[in-house]
Amino acid sequence: MTPEGLERAASAIAGARLLVVSTGAGMSRESGIPTFRDAQDGLWARFDPAELATERGFRADPARVWAWYEYRRLRMAACAPHAGHGALVELEWNVPQVAVITQNIDGLHQRAGSTEVLEIHGSIHRVRCLDCGAPGERPDVGRDDDDPPRCARCGSYLRPGVVWFGEMLPEDVVRRAWALVERCEVLLVVGTSGLVWPAAELPHLARRNDARVIEVNPEPSEVTPVADIFLQGRAGEVLPTLVRAVARQRGS
Ligand code: APR
Repeated sequence: MTPEGLERAASAIAGARLLVVSTGAGMSRESGIPTFRDAQDGLWARFDPAELATERGFRADPARVWAWYEYRRLRMAACAPHAGHGALVELEWNVPQVAVITQNIDGLHQRAGSTEVLEIHGSIHRVRCLDCGAPGERPDVGRDDDDPPRCARCGSYLRPGVVWFGEMLPEDVVRRAWALVERCEVLLVVGTSGLVWPAAELPHLARRNDARVIEVNPEPSEVTPVADIFLQGRAGEVLPTLVRAVARQRGS
């Protein structure tokens, strides 16, 4: 990350009325949650997503898929937001509106205190009925039954409230997210490879609407060619530095 890049990014954010932040799995990595594509410990390196993160996989073996999400949920609940999450909350003190659009299902942005979070891939902390779609109540941990809990309304299995491969993203969340990106002055993209659509569309949409695109990532990604400013580094280190530079530029 060059000092010039940092000052240019801080100046763009300091002058924005609406800052949208788009985060991927890399944003949670420093909290101890593996990304999807990490070769050594990435989630998809060890599991076949088609068997575990699809409706077909769930219907084929509900207990196995439920157990995998419970294992991930409890691991995520044991993790804490890092300084990068806190920096995004601090940006809310210097920018009139900060909206976070996240592909992450771990809830760390909300736990850090971000007040506007759009979870376009859903949340591991929510459950809903596999068939009637009614939101469900997760029973307390420590049930002796391996099968997933049942829907109080129709009796079908409850499933994790996440978007599985091949599923549509939540329509209302997507509509709100895309509308925010269309009218933001700055889109800050943190910790995503930019490989998975439609989230990968966001930097292109921002550029088409004359917004400045700033990327934070230790490695170049599919987003980098579309970014105006590339701040190379980890979210937990770059974002706090960026927030301090924004505060300086705003004289606060
Ligand atoms: N800080 C910032 N970025 C990081 C960090 C870090 N500390 N560590 C890794 N990264 C970057 C990696 O360089 C990579 O570009 O985070 C990105 C993670 O990319 P992916 O693993 O592809 O995660 P993501 O982009 O969120 O995946 C998109 O794929 O499987 C689906 O639904 C899943 O939402 C997920 C989607």
